[in-house]
Amino acid sequence: MELAVAMLLILLILASWRVLSESRLLVDMTLVSDASNNGGFCLDGSLPAYHLHRGFGAGESNWLLQFEGGGWCNDIQSCLDRAKTKRGSSLYMNKLEDFNGILSNDASLNPDFYNWNRVKLRYCDGGSFSGDAKFDNGTSVLYFRGQKIWEAIILDLLPKGLGKADKALLSGCSAGGLSSFLQCENFHRTLPTNTTVKCLSDAGFFLDERDIALNYTMRTFFENLVSLQGIEKNLDRKLH
Ligand SMILES: *[C@@H]1O[C@H](CO)[C@@H](O)[C@H](O)[C@H]1NC(C)=O
Ligand SMILES: *[C@@H]1O[C@H](CO)[C@@H](O)[C@H](O)[C@H]1NC(C)=O
Ligand SMILES: *[C@@H]1O[C@H](CO)[C@@H](O)[C@H](O)[C@H]1NC(C)=O
Repeated sequence: MELAVAMLLILLILASWRVLSESRLLVDMTLVSDASNNGGFCLDGSLPAYHLHRGFGAGESNWLLQFEGGGWCNDIQSCLDRAKTKRGSSLYMNKLEDFNGILSNDASLNPDFYNWNRVKLRYCDGGSFSGDAKFDNGTSVLYFRGQKIWEAIILDLLPKGLGKADKALLSGCSAGGLSSFLQCENFHRTLPTNTTVKCLSDAGFFLDERDIALNYTMRTFFENLVSLQGIEKNLDRKLH
């Protein structure tokens, strides 16, 4: 009896391992070397990065871009800490990224987008791809250049086919979902008028509500973030 249970367990483990290893898609990282022209650096001054998996068949001219999420840093200390991690420096990022969910190339898991060109934009600016400032007090330097990173990545992707996209979807989750809101108009303006452009924000809206201690914690948090990273000039006036 015990032996049968043990055998069954081993079979189950082997089966799930097979499913996992078969459906795993690891995609290489591309460093955006042209970002040094517009100063679009990660917090620590390293080059920003993305991962691109090419579309095929009927999806060959469609593009899905996904902003990576991962919270924010809203003061010098938290950004200095972040600059020493994969969320603030491409030096610490894994060079192969697991493409799953809407980035998967498996039609049974991702029927709508499996054959599109799919891009994951790595998040390393701490400000939802919207900042444009620099901190330098002589001993510490921090780049708050999310807006420039976004622009450099788009410039890099346009000649790779994005500039002739049939359909284009800008997506992201959490801090990346906020980026989708913030860059949606900009994305739309950048692409040809005959490209169908949509944006998807997954959990990217943060309520301006009082917390359990009756404080406007999110408001204070975002105010600090906006002033630290010089974000205001990049916000859409119509949304103010
Ligand atoms: C620069 O800022 C860092 C972080 O706040 C601090 O540790 C350091 O002492 C500052 N250096 C100068 C010269 O003020
Ligand atoms: C958009 O227009 C350009 C120029 O007329 C054309 O080459 C391209 O095929 C069109 N793209 C789509 C998706 O219709
Ligand atoms: C709420 O805000 C007040 C005033 O800014 C502050 O003194 C207090 O520590 C805050 N309480 C909590 C639980 O964060």
